Amino acid sequence: MNIVLGITGGIAAYKAPDLVRRMRERGAEVQIVMTASAEEFVTSTALQAVSGRPIRSNLWDKEAEAAMSHIELARWADLVLVAPATAEVMARIVSGGAPDLLTTICLATEAPIALAPAMNRVMWSNPATQANREVLEERGIHIIGPGVGSQACGETGSGRMLDPDVIAATVFNLTGGKGEGLLEGRKVVITAGPTREAIDPVRYITNRSSGKMGYAIASAAAAQGAEVVLVSGPVNVAEPPGIAVINVESAQQMYAATHDVIGDADIFIAAAAVADYRPAKLVEQKIKKNDESMSLDLVRCPDILASVAHLDPAPFTIGFAAETENVLDYARGKLQRKNLDLIIANRVGDNCGFDRDDNTATALWKNGERSYPTLSKVDLARELIELAAEHFYAVRGSDTQPKLTIISNKD
Ligand code: CTP
Repeated sequence: MNIVLGITGGIAAYKAPDLVRRMRERGAEVQIVMTASAEEFVTSTALQAVSGRPIRSNLWDKEAEAAMSHIELARWADLVLVAPATAEVMARIVSGGAPDLLTTICLATEAPIALAPAMNRVMWSNPATQANREVLEERGIHIIGPGVGSQACGETGSGRMLDPDVIAATVFNLTGGKGEGLLEGRKVVITAGPTREAIDPVRYITNRSSGKMGYAIASAAAAQGAEVVLVSGPVNVAEPPGIAVINVESAQQMYAATHDVIGDADIFIAAAAVADYRPAKLVEQKIKKNDESMSLDLVRCPDILASVAHLDPAPFTIGFAAETENVLDYARGKLQRKNLDLIIANRVGDNCGFDRDDNTATALWKNGERSYPTLSKVDLARELIELAAEHFYAVRGSDTQPKLTIISNKD
């Protein structure tokens, strides 16, 4: 894969050498194009060393243009990634202006374009930047991130450039992940995120699930050609392009929404952290603190995963087991008890699992298991979808496998 990596003038440019390494580890050729202000934050010497190619920055560099013109560079790219992407470059791409080499390439390429924004939280939330983001997304430009957290300016909020590993993995899914079409013509229903179980009009019970794993699985399934329906609890993750998302809050709503769409599904993946219990009754008015202690009466929520696995006919069904101890034993118990085809076991708590960008998992099935090293959730999702497809066709018979069309030009 040939990637033109555009680097613009934000402090996150210091992460660019790491990003180049992550993409090259995945087998990509990376041609760096820097803007003049990017050179204030990272040296072209360092970038040339990690990319192994001369850096391009000037549209009027006669020697470089003679070797590969900006139009040839735009054609060479399988993907143009701008990381970090400043508010300024977003605005310039929206306007269609091409005052420098990077924006000229963005205008001249037919390859997909992805931007990883990085800026101060107020600049990101400014209506002008948000309007630009909307226009870019409408035009099919992929916006990767930004993340939430502490910023170089000392503030905390949304606007941080995502981790180089997450950007590299996402980019790989956008392009390299496509093409095999393992799930072409299949419908995959996925639950993701936490649920909220209301106590009164202002309080609820929830958990630490971020939804990142489920959303990554949805993107990976779509990249393999599946029609994906994502039933999502409340999360802070951007909706993946091209995927139908049904937003719900409670376990009961998630159960109803799942059963509304499961009828013709081939595969069901329960990645949501669904509440096991909900308050027995919803109190209509805010509860006042009258006593020294209080107790809540809880009742069981419907088990979405088990209910789908016991349908007749049932889709190929995959569950998750997030455990703090005896991870594999508990997961195998769930595989049998809930009548699943596959279960993905992972350890949570103590700095792993929830609300992180990576995950360490073991997939278990009736007669076997496969352990994965610690991977970004995007990479793990791709692996799990490949495993799911392999087992789905093994269980449902190879006659349902996508046929390879051999095109011959002999006659
Ligand atoms: N799940 C579900 N509906 C529920 C509860 C869980 O679909 N009401 C699914 C989750 O999406 C996940 C799997 O079931 O795929 C987790 O199993 P579960 O038995 O609920 O796990 P825990 O409650 O964490 O564990 P335990 O039952 O051991 O308390």
